[in-house]
Amino acid sequence: AKTIVKDKLNRPLRDLRISVIDRCNFRCQYCMPAEIFGPDFAFLPKSELLSYEEIERLAKNFVSLGVEKIRLTGGEPLMRKDMPKLVKMLSNIEGLKDIGLTTNGVLLPKHAKDLKEAGLKRVNISLDSLDDELFGKINGRNVGVKPVLKGIEAAKEAGLGVKINMVVKKGLNDSEIVPMAKFCKDNGLQLRFIEYMDVGSTNGWKMDEVVTKKEIYDILKDHYLLEPVDPDYFGEVAKRYRYKGTDVDVGFITSVSESFCSSCTRSRLSANGQIFTCLFNGEGHDLKEFMRKGATDKEITDRIIAIWNGREDRYSDERTEQTIASRKKIEMSYIGG
Ligand code: GTP
Ligand code: 5AD
Ligand code: SF4
Ligand code: SF4
Repeated sequence: AKTIVKDKLNRPLRDLRISVIDRCNFRCQYCMPAEIFGPDFAFLPKSELLSYEEIERLAKNFVSLGVEKIRLTGGEPLMRKDMPKLVKMLSNIEGLKDIGLTTNGVLLPKHAKDLKEAGLKRVNISLDSLDDELFGKINGRNVGVKPVLKGIEAAKEAGLGVKINMVVKKGLNDSEIVPMAKFCKDNGLQLRFIEYMDVGSTNGWKMDEVVTKKEIYDILKDHYLLEPVDPDYFGEVAKRYRYKGTDVDVGFITSVSESFCSSCTRSRLSANGQIFTCLFNGEGHDLKEFMRKGATDKEITDRIIAIWNGREDRYSDERTEQTIASRKKIEMSYIGG
C-alpha cells in the first residue's frame, strides 16, 4: 500500500526528476556557460555519483510514497554509460506509470532503440533554433542542427514519444519562434516554448530577456489558428494549444509569467544523491551518505517524508510577486531542470 505524503502547501509527492550525471556535451549559455564550465571545472567524480543500484533503491522508496512519474535528466543523461540498463531497472518498479528522459538529442541515434526496448516511453529533446550558426552559438560547442534532427528521427523511429523544448531568450532566438513552430507542426511534433528562467547563478538572467507566453502566443496567432487544450493530468507543466484541424499541439512553459507552484508535485534527486524540493532551492538533503552508512528502507522513506512534509517552496510564485532577495540557488546542470 502506498503512503501519501503532502507538503506544507498540501501538494502531494508525484514526480521524481533524477539527474544521472552533471556533465554535458553542450555548453548552452543559459545553463552551462563555457566561461564557467571550462576545461578545469570540477565535475563530480564517479565515486560521488549514485550507482544504478542506489538510484533504483531510492526510486522504489519514492514510488512507495506516491511517485508515479520519473524523468531522467542531467547534464546530458545519455553521457552516462549504459542508460538503457538503468531504464530497465526503473521500468520494473511496480506502481511507476511513466518514465521519460530529457536530452539534447545528439546521442539518441546511438541509444534510442535500446532505451525504448528497456521501457522508456518518451523523450523531451531540447532544440532552440533551426539555424546552424545560431544554434552552434547557443549550444556553445558549434554543434549544428543536423545531429539533433537525427536524434529526433531516431527517437520517432524507435517508437518513443517526442516533445521538443525551446528556451526563448530575447534578442537571441526569438527570430526562431515561427520557423520552429512551422517545423514542428509539419513534422507532427509537440513544441514547447519555455520562458527563460533565472536558474542557478551563472547565466546572468535579466527579466527583460524573458519572452513571455503572451508575446509568443501573439506572434503565433498571426500565423495559425490555435485552440486551447485541457491539461493531460493535474499539474501538467505546459499549457497547451492545438493547431486547428490537426492533432498537433504546441505548449508554453510559463515559469516566469504564470507560475505553477501551487500544483508543483516535483522532487529532484541530484547525481550525487541529494534531494531538492524546488528548482530554485539550493538546500539539498543528502541521501547518498545516509544510504551508504547503512540506512534501512524504512529510515530512508521516513527521511523523505520528513523532507516533503517540511516543503514550502513556491519560488516562481514569489518571483512574480517580486519579493525575492538573493538566495542560494542550484545550477540546473546539477539537478536537471
Ligand atoms: P513532461 O513530463 O513531458 O511534461 O516533462 P516536463 O516538461 O516536466 O520536463 P522537461 O525536462 O522537458 O522540462 C521542460 C522545462 O520545464 C524545463 O525548462 C524545466 O526546467 C521546466 N520545469 C520542469 N519542472 C519545473 C518546475 O517544477 N518548476 C519550474 N519553474 N520549471 C520546471
Ligand atoms: N530557463 C529555462 N529553461 C532552461 N533549460 C535549461 N536552462 C534553462 C533556463 N535558464 C531547459 C533546457 C531543457 C530543459 C530541461 O530545461 O533547454 O530543455
Ligand atoms: Fe546541456 Fe541541456 Fe544544459 Fe544545454 S541545457 S548545457 S544541453 S544540460
Ligand atoms: Fe515547483 Fe519550485 Fe518550480 Fe515552483 S519554482 S513550480 S515550487 S520547482
